[in-house]
Amino acid sequence: MSTPPSTGSLDAIVRDAIAAFAACRDPAALENAKAAWLGKTGALTARLKALGQLPPAERPAAGARINQAKEAIEAALVRRREALAEEKLAGDLAAQALDVSLPGRGQGGGGLHPITRTLERVEGLFRSLGFTVADGPEIEDDFHNFTALNTPENHPARSMQDTFYVDGGLVLRTHTSPIQIRWMEGHPPPIKIIAPGRVYRVDSDATHSPMFHQVEGLWIDEDVSFADLKGVITEFLRRFFERDDVHVRFRPSFFPFVEPGAEIDMAFGEGRWLELAGAGQVHPNVLKAVGIDPQRWQGFAFGMGYDRLAMLRYGVADLRLFFENDLKFLEQFR
Ligand code: FA5
Repeated sequence: MSTPPSTGSLDAIVRDAIAAFAACRDPAALENAKAAWLGKTGALTARLKALGQLPPAERPAAGARINQAKEAIEAALVRRREALAEEKLAGDLAAQALDVSLPGRGQGGGGLHPITRTLERVEGLFRSLGFTVADGPEIEDDFHNFTALNTPENHPARSMQDTFYVDGGLVLRTHTSPIQIRWMEGHPPPIKIIAPGRVYRVDSDATHSPMFHQVEGLWIDEDVSFADLKGVITEFLRRFFERDDVHVRFRPSFFPFVEPGAEIDMAFGEGRWLELAGAGQVHPNVLKAVGIDPQRWQGFAFGMGYDRLAMLRYGVADLRLFFENDLKFLEQFR
């Protein structure tokens, strides 16, 4: 920095600033010079402080002039920064320090997470079967996560899902089934939805992760039967795995919110089965709890773990790998 900040007229200050900026040969010098005019102890700041000593009537006009000067200095600073950057580029090019013919640095194009890809597939296929996609909160109240699903407090079935409790009687939802309730509270039948999302349980092994994904299905109409459930699930799995010979079994099971209830397994490898979903005909008590007449309306619900669909589709033996965020693992699915 050469010229010290002028104490003369505003025009002189602007002129001095421009001259000082022009004298700077590199960005560091320029940023130092900037402080002398625009910084806290800079020439313009001193002028602004002195405004208070002027008669009140003169202050607005004087203030406006100082601001104009400030804008002019800021504009000069930006111009000089650009000019220095261009000079450097031109210098590098001339010295051939920059070879513009070199290939660009790899940008490592991103990709979708395999579970996101799986979700897109699941949604697309269910849409093609006539389902609409619904959504619900991940932090749930006890009523929607349990009670309205025919699982009142102290019901032993609550212990089937080891729950993360949050303050204020809330839980990290243990399944996507509360979305059934929320949807039926707001929509009269007929209903035909799926609702995917994250769910949480105190669980961890090769087929269980503490955070995992389920897609809920709910189809309520006047004559939707367990046979429809079997048809929809089997057709979905055929399309998902692009095979006609998927082996699916419906194993009787208990969930308080369905009757009858089943667990749905799919065969893989050498005679092995993996459980994919819980399902069944929606219990009349659940329909009553949301004001739907079970004499007239009936249908099925299911909750499918789609991390497990991804495991089978991609041949991954431990589903927790999907959530370790190891790029070496994830990049295989791009
Ligand atoms: C349920 O969560 C019921 N809400 C399903 C249901 C919905 C039944 C509607 C009836 C009607 P379950 O706890 O079995 O059921 O879980 C369903 C599926 O989620 C399992 O079959 C499995 O595929 C998946 N799952 C369960 N726990 C985990 C976990 N910790 N990690 C990964 N996937 C899991």
